[in-house]
Amino acid sequence: MMTSTLEERIKKLLAAAQPKCTEIQNAAQMIRAGKLVAFPTETVYGLGANALDEKAVGSVYEAKGRPSDNPIIVHVSSIKMAEAIAELNWMARFLMEKFWPGPLSLIVISRQNIPLKTRGGLSTVALRMPDNAIALSLIETAGVPIAAPSANISGRPSPTDADSVTADLGGKIDAVLDGGATQVGLESTVLDTTGELPVILRPGGVSKEKIEKELGMEVLVPLGDEKSKKRSPGTRYRHYAPAIPLLPDKRTEAFWSEIEISRKAWAWIGIKQPPVEPLKKIIFADTEEYAKEFFRALRALENSGAEIIIAEVPEEKGIGIALRDRLSRASSV
Ligand code: TXA
Ligand code: MG
Repeated sequence: MMTSTLEERIKKLLAAAQPKCTEIQNAAQMIRAGKLVAFPTETVYGLGANALDEKAVGSVYEAKGRPSDNPIIVHVSSIKMAEAIAELNWMARFLMEKFWPGPLSLIVISRQNIPLKTRGGLSTVALRMPDNAIALSLIETAGVPIAAPSANISGRPSPTDADSVTADLGGKIDAVLDGGATQVGLESTVLDTTGELPVILRPGGVSKEKIEKELGMEVLVPLGDEKSKKRSPGTRYRHYAPAIPLLPDKRTEAFWSEIEISRKAWAWIGIKQPPVEPLKKIIFADTEEYAKEFFRALRALENSGAEIIIAEVPEEKGIGIALRDRLSRASSV
């Protein structure tokens, strides 16, 4: 675990962004003027707007084609900024000090200055401090919290590089800050801290085990029933899907003989080799690399001549839990 304080970690990141200064200042000015700027984070690229500007946030929903009842994560560059827009209880404060900047979004009670549009009509708001020099410096320079969903067309795989952002949203947004490929490759963990026990609404970059270890208390994971879906608006919609069908490898003979009978050209993604040679394959070194490259691989294979993507199902531990979640939501079965 990190031994430095949150303040030291923030300072270090802000110092690392210096060379990009003019670009970031221009982008920050755009944010303040109500425009839309896509930026890198450690997870995926975000499509940012001033979280306090209802009209700007409205343009984010419009550019993405996002349902208006799906709230947006608000990105901050300091605890002070978080306090100005939300009520922070001990649990939220503790987790911020332990895991920020990093891939953990905390659901807390919102103050009235965050427009209902940003929160999808809810009384709560999701807060996150990204572990990325460009992102943190953009928020700090803009001086306002930045509302940012993933910078993809709603339902498409999340963008993990600037080209993927431009492919989906080019022409609809005002600027893209290019910070290269993102490190984690899957979105942040969304954790509800408003109840007695914390609840994971979306598995992501920080594992349940890590949170439990730091907090010294149980972290709940809701079942995929209707009541839980109500609590986590984003899980109601189809997500992350590539333009060609994606099938998780069922590892049964029946599954593979169906693929053969269909005579469809297929592509493989996974850590292991596929049981038969496909048209295309992308093999990853380990689960971390699989997670990091997953969305980019889906996008790359859309135009590879393959008609189907078959994906190895990773082991259910660490980042593998988040990857399994994205895989099943992106899958066409
Ligand atoms: O890593 C990430 O979280 C990326 C980067 C850009 O920060 N952002 C991201 O945003 O993945 P988006 O909009 O694609 O996903 C946000 C998720 C959705 O599932 C949404 O429903 C949930 O967070 N969410 C946001 N605010 C919420 C709230 N107040 N209560 C419950 N769920 C909330
Ligand atoms: Mg998204």
